[in-house]
Amino acid sequence: MSFEEQVLAQQSLPKHVAIIMDGNGRWAQQQGKPRVWGHKNGVESVRESVRFCHKLGIQSLTLFAFSSENWRRPEEEVSTLMELFIFVLSNEVKKLHKNNVKLKVVGDKTQFSSKLQQKIKDAEALTATNTGLTLNIAANYGGQWDIVQAAQQAAQQVADGVMSVQDINESSFSQFMNLSDQPQLDLLIRTGGDYRISNFLLWQAAYAELYFTEVLWPDFNEDVFSEAVATFVSRERRFGCTGGQIKALMQQES
Ligand code: FPP
Repeated sequence: MSFEEQVLAQQSLPKHVAIIMDGNGRWAQQQGKPRVWGHKNGVESVRESVRFCHKLGIQSLTLFAFSSENWRRPEEEVSTLMELFIFVLSNEVKKLHKNNVKLKVVGDKTQFSSKLQQKIKDAEALTATNTGLTLNIAANYGGQWDIVQAAQQAAQQVADGVMSVQDINESSFSQFMNLSDQPQLDLLIRTGGDYRISNFLLWQAAYAELYFTEVLWPDFNEDVFSEAVATFVSRERRFGCTGGQIKALMQQES
């Protein structure tokens, strides 16, 4: 996307929001329950976030459900999370489809069980032609993994003679990144009180506004989401330019 397009694409509401859903374990522990209780309750916050995006007409919502590093968690927690993903995919996909939501799972799916891989394929196929909200579930995803797989695709094209080394630039490289078919990321929210990106959308977050909240994911709701969107709207995005240059460009266009 050219600089002018980037600036003019900015409207008051974000088109693409991503969320690092953190704090499930602490939420459960605060209630004297096992960590997986927090993940199970986190599903309701996912539903509420999807409803909110649908209502606001946000085009893409990307949720960090499982990072490449989450395999290091206790085996029992990992397997409960996998079962939860299968359960959610089986139970929610029809409702998502009815609401015209397109579901995509981004990440290295090869390490998932064949049952989960099949559920993902079925859910993506069922919703593939929907035109409402695109819901991206980042599962076994890592920002560095995404950049590496894009570099491999670019290298392959050079090896195949489709592209020359000189053809590789920010714009042509972008097409190999996950989510390149969707609006650029506008707003990245992290719940749970930490101030990190944790290897999430490293490339895609280049110009995103960041919003951090202490709220733990199972307590995340429409009110907190509204607050994040209101903060986004109140911020002036300059893409490295002066405020005067941006204003002039916007006036020129209107
Ligand atoms: C981080 O909290 C959360 C996760 C690793 C899992 C998120 C999964 C869900 C909300 C379940 C359903 C989601 C979908 C999209 C099917 P944490 O365990 O790191 O919390 P802590 O920081 O308090 O330990």
